[in-house]
Amino acid sequence: MYYSDDIVEEVRSRNDIVDVISGYVKLQRRGSSYFGLCPFHNEKSPSFSVSQSKQMYYCFGCGAGGNVFTFLMEYENDTFPEALKVLADRAGIALPEQEYSQEARRQRDLKTSVLEINRTAAKYFYWMLKSPQGERALQYLKGRGLSDETIRHFGLGYAGPYSDALYRYLKKQGVSEQLLKESGLMQVSEKQGMYDKFWNRVMFPIMDVNSKVIGFGGRVMGDGKPKYLNSPETVIFDKSRNLYGLNFARTSKKRNLLVCEGYMDVIAMHQAGFTNAVASLGTALTSQHASILKRYTDEVILTYDSDEAGVRAALRAIPLLKEAGISTRVLHMDPYKDPDEFIRALGTEAFQQRINQAENSFLFEVSILERSYDMQDPDGKTRFFQAVAARIAAFEMELERENYIEAITGKYQISFEGLRRMVMNVLMQGAPARRIVTRPPVRPEKEDGIRRSQRLILTWLAEYPQLYRTVSAYVHPEDFSDELYREVAEMLYAQLEQGQVNPARITSHFDGQEQQRAVAEIFNTGVRVETPKEQEKAIQETIYKVVEHGIAQRTGALDPADLAGLQALVDAKRRLQELGRLHISL
Ligand code: UTP
Ligand code: MN
Repeated sequence: MYYSDDIVEEVRSRNDIVDVISGYVKLQRRGSSYFGLCPFHNEKSPSFSVSQSKQMYYCFGCGAGGNVFTFLMEYENDTFPEALKVLADRAGIALPEQEYSQEARRQRDLKTSVLEINRTAAKYFYWMLKSPQGERALQYLKGRGLSDETIRHFGLGYAGPYSDALYRYLKKQGVSEQLLKESGLMQVSEKQGMYDKFWNRVMFPIMDVNSKVIGFGGRVMGDGKPKYLNSPETVIFDKSRNLYGLNFARTSKKRNLLVCEGYMDVIAMHQAGFTNAVASLGTALTSQHASILKRYTDEVILTYDSDEAGVRAALRAIPLLKEAGISTRVLHMDPYKDPDEFIRALGTEAFQQRINQAENSFLFEVSILERSYDMQDPDGKTRFFQAVAARIAAFEMELERENYIEAITGKYQISFEGLRRMVMNVLMQGAPARRIVTRPPVRPEKEDGIRRSQRLILTWLAEYPQLYRTVSAYVHPEDFSDELYREVAEMLYAQLEQGQVNPARITSHFDGQEQQRAVAEIFNTGVRVETPKEQEKAIQETIYKVVEHGIAQRTGALDPADLAGLQALVDAKRRLQELGRLHISL
């Protein structure tokens, strides 16, 4: 960070979070907080909350959260200095210029310039498409079924037949050679010097979630090679983080997202009304893609090509999506190759039907697995079901296993009990099975429970500072198991000592969306309690749990020779016993 704490805090405190967010999201007061529809994922009932007292926001649905800076960074895709600038301007605060390090300023200016060049290029290509020179390109796009409206909506264009047209156009606008190089729109060779990367191609501008052009794909009109050329990675274009069409899809009202492979597929689906389609553009789906998708939806329907490569891509994507907490279904495209061809051949309704019938990802994986067994041969068939049983055994929850056993027995007409016994056998013998049987997944759950209790304490302290004296007599910052929690606890305790609780300021100390989300979660953990009596009990139990866990942790780590440490633990244990008699209320 290039600004002093004081400046950051000054800007933050002069921008009320409810005011700022109200400019983007319709908020309604409910109790002590404001609620609205979360702008970071699709939802029908509001789980996005903004707290005036904490000056923080948090979505109970998708976990997005932070302070007013985080909001702008997440919503506008701003960098921290950009968000700071916007909010400083809004509050009429002049930022000290020298606080920008030179490198930071250079990067910011570079990004702004490269965005500007991409925008200019996109407008130029669009203009070319609509000019007489673009006649053939326009016919090509129309020949592929695109309407004028679709062409305009996606900003499609044409790079003309000369390999220096854009170069000369941008030079005339005063763009420097250095910037041209950074833009990704040029190629440099020793013989020819600098020339256009794209020529004689129809152009697909690639936009980020805020519809800023960050790169291009260009397609030959016909059978030439390579079929598509794409912008290289630049200061503004990172393929592993961008999804084509997401700028439109994120506001579509559908409950899931359709993920496909190509430009034309996204465009064809949007034109047909499936405005929830995005593509990972030739590169395999990454875990970054998956976590971006998770911001907007809990369900993805893979609409990859029906060929071998498409199947492989789907098999790779499914675990990544699962890891991100997304459930996946797979759409069957056959006998067509991709969504574009399917929709052109069979139309919108047929495609909608395929969406409805899209197959659960586990069943899809099983049907691919089936291909490597000879199902006519009794032994082959047995081996296949054994392999399926092994996969089912890998699910942690019994209910999940039962559901899949049922689905498989339905699909292959075999007996439920038979398959269930196979699964049980795997669970009893196999290596992964032993883990599941002897140690059912209580550990992670317990760990989650403790972390949740720790968050509860911090939320309560932020909301009811009067609890501080009681809580701090038992719970110390070192009782918090994870480093981030501990740091937050230390800062909050220091604020409470000063009598100035300020969770939003604590948030500013952490860099990066993930950490800020975690901080927002810490300050937005709640339990439902009805009566004061229940409340008291909840607080007491929570303190008890956290202290007990802290003691256990420290006991495990204690050096047997550390007598003072031992004494401290004994004291802590004794105090823990007293806790039962304590009277706590809010
Ligand atoms: P496909 O070969 O499936 O093409 O590549 P497509 O999307 O169906 O395109 P049309 O219908 O033939 O015009 C899928 C995606 O892979 C990337 C592009 O993003 C393309 O949309 N790709 C493909 C490339 O980057 N370069 C290539 O040469 C081919
Ligand atoms: Mn295609």
